[in-house]
Amino acid sequence: MRIIFFAGKGGVGKTSVSAATGIKAAQAGNRTLVMSLDVAHSLADIFDLDRGLLDKNRGKPIKVGTNLWIQELDIQEEIEKNWGDIHKYLSTLLSTTGLNEILAEELAILPGMEEVSLLLYINRYVRTKKFDVILLDCAPTGESLRFISIPTTLEWYIKKIFKMERAIVRYARPLAKRLYDVPLPGEDYFDAVEYLFQRLQGVEDILVDPKITTVRLVTNPEKIVIKETQRAFMYFSLYKMNTDAIIMNRILPESVRDAYFEDWKGRQGEYIRQAETYFSPIPLFPVNLFRGEILGKESLASLAEQIYGDRDPLERFFDGEPYSLAKVDGKYQLKIKLPFIEKKDVDLNKVSDELIIRVGGFKRHVLLPRQVAASTSVSARLDGADLSVQFEP
Ligand SMILES: Nc1ncnc2c1ncn2[C@@H]1O[C@H](COP(=O)(O)OP(=O)(O)O)[C@@H](O)[C@H]1O
Ligand SMILES: [Mg+2]
Repeated sequence: MRIIFFAGKGGVGKTSVSAATGIKAAQAGNRTLVMSLDVAHSLADIFDLDRGLLDKNRGKPIKVGTNLWIQELDIQEEIEKNWGDIHKYLSTLLSTTGLNEILAEELAILPGMEEVSLLLYINRYVRTKKFDVILLDCAPTGESLRFISIPTTLEWYIKKIFKMERAIVRYARPLAKRLYDVPLPGEDYFDAVEYLFQRLQGVEDILVDPKITTVRLVTNPEKIVIKETQRAFMYFSLYKMNTDAIIMNRILPESVRDAYFEDWKGRQGEYIRQAETYFSPIPLFPVNLFRGEILGKESLASLAEQIYGDRDPLERFFDGEPYSLAKVDGKYQLKIKLPFIEKKDVDLNKVSDELIIRVGGFKRHVLLPRQVAASTSVSARLDGADLSVQFEP
């Protein structure tokens, strides 16, 4: 089993690179699924699929060649399927506040529902062994990064809050009914949350196992795009996901000699060198700007050729661990690779058996092993790219 996420800013080439990787993986005999999470789907268009066929199979895997399937997630359908009772409760709740029904239904779509659907699929496909390879064409970075925090956040919520909430509602219902007009969630709501959680069990282990899952960051030689790639890289590391390649797409080829592009070429060269240094030792795969759009299997195959050459696209190109826990001089030391951050961006908090790491808008709960959790004194420092947290026994 192999899972690869392709993430990056809008327009950098995620869909093209995912599809190209799919073509090459399928050619080698792997049952390959390319799944798109971007609401602005373009996967089917790249493969030039008939719209009728697409409408008939909305949201489902469609076979596009030997060993190759594509699937475009349909958020509306997924919400009905996976979030039924939860969504129903939330929209009832919202409509009691005076909102009209349609708007209430719309607003009751929680951020993260889409991502949870994706995680449910991954979990199911891994367990049913329907595919050998799953390639994920992510939504533009800002949004797609949310999914990585969902398994830990949900686990935390279920363990620390959910059971209590359920008990409170159960006992308070008769009283609350008399006091408030707001409907309390029913047992079916709680059952639905619990069922959802059950189906997500184990998905985090899949995501953080570098033998199964890696991330490839697709980027372009432009300042702002590279900045965002750095941020994405850091967040994936924070959630323990392994990035094994940087795909530098849309490079002006050497053969372009037109004076008009001189400045572009010079700058691109500089950004590529910078990115190589930033991300080293993770390998960078350069890809030229093609003569035209990338459409159809033939041009996807030549894109795959440009990216991977003779290499197996499923190879793990880099296998450094983003996390390590070791005992050094009698002290436990947790090391997390977080390049591109400054001390002022990080906030650490230890609450009983959890270390809460906050970096910008992202928060991660790291559950500590018992020996480590017992420590009362915690200190941290930034060691180049490593955030190093010391636990005194
Ligand atoms: N190396 C390339 N050369 C030429 N066109 C490219 C290249 N990579 C991507 N494109 C084109 O750029 C556009 C955006 O690419 P796409 O893969 O849809 O990006 P994303 O999924 O990241 O938004 C598409 O029209 C695609 O054909
Ligand atoms: Mg896309």
